[in-house]
Amino acid sequence: MSILERFSLAGQVALVTGGGRGLGFEMASALAEAGAHVIVTGRTTATLEDAVRTIRAAGGTAEAAVFDIADRGAQRAVMAEIDKIHGRLDILISNVGARDRRPLAEFDDEAVLELLRTDLAAAITLSRDASVLMKRRNYGRLIAVTSISGHVVMPGDCVYPAAKQGLTGLMRAMAVEFGPHGITSNAIAPGWFATETNAAMAANEELMPFVRQRIPVQRWGRPDEIAGAALFLASAAASFVNGHVLTVDGGMTVTM
Ligand SMILES: NC(=O)c1ccc[n+]([C@@H]2O[C@H](COP(=O)([O-])OP(=O)(O)OC[C@H]3O[C@@H](n4cnc5c(N)ncnc54)[C@H](OP(=O)(O)O)[C@@H]3O)[C@@H](O)[C@H]2O)c1
Repeated sequence: MSILERFSLAGQVALVTGGGRGLGFEMASALAEAGAHVIVTGRTTATLEDAVRTIRAAGGTAEAAVFDIADRGAQRAVMAEIDKIHGRLDILISNVGARDRRPLAEFDDEAVLELLRTDLAAAITLSRDASVLMKRRNYGRLIAVTSISGHVVMPGDCVYPAAKQGLTGLMRAMAVEFGPHGITSNAIAPGWFATETNAAMAANEELMPFVRQRIPVQRWGRPDEIAGAALFLASAAASFVNGHVLTVDGGMTVTM
């Protein structure tokens, strides 16, 4: 098999949580372009319908699943549906990540648990359920979108970094547990990407001196710059990469 053929996902089925927009959409589009049938999830029907239309217009195949990622019943139902319709799941990208940046003292117990349910627990249960389908074929790619947050942090931001570093631990531990079943587990840790959610920050000229000083490529990441990392980890080209965190941050975390 040629090296380029190893990047083909033809015939495979991929689930991308939060795949309707932002980094999730870019990763879902890349997997579809490489030949995978992609299921994109989120809470907003219209956004997901747009994403599916765009992927199909580019020649890919996709479908939408609308549910809140923290809803265990809905998670189980989606996995059962994938099993019933496709009979396989090759790739899971756990990409949903809600942001709630404020000092820990301002978090009440329920706010802590809510963020952990969305940003951490959901990926744990979904990965476990996905691994059941993957083990059947002795093949799978579990990928979580973490963050550079937790590796480096801004003041007044504790719960999100905790969830993201929990995800890092999950991927490394699953690499050990599921490796014998032909399933690799890796993480992608994005730096600063100019997605819709960060639009105000990315447009803030006052932040640019900081960006130029801290990010060696001297700019925000474009959302589509996450796609190569996702395709690599999802493909046979990464067959011996297991338990790795692939940082995609323009060099921000290596800057003194
Ligand atoms: N952008 C960055 O600079 C950056 C940096 C580091 C890490 N990350 C991580 O990268 C991932 C994607 O970031 P992004 O900027 O692309 O995010 P985004 O633009 O805010 O998109 C988040 C996606 O997740 C979905 N989502 C959010 N909460 C959900 C929930 N409770 N249930 C189901 N779906 C939910 C959203 O769809 P609905 O709203 O329709 O549900 C949307 O599709 C996140 O995990 C984020 O933490 C991003």
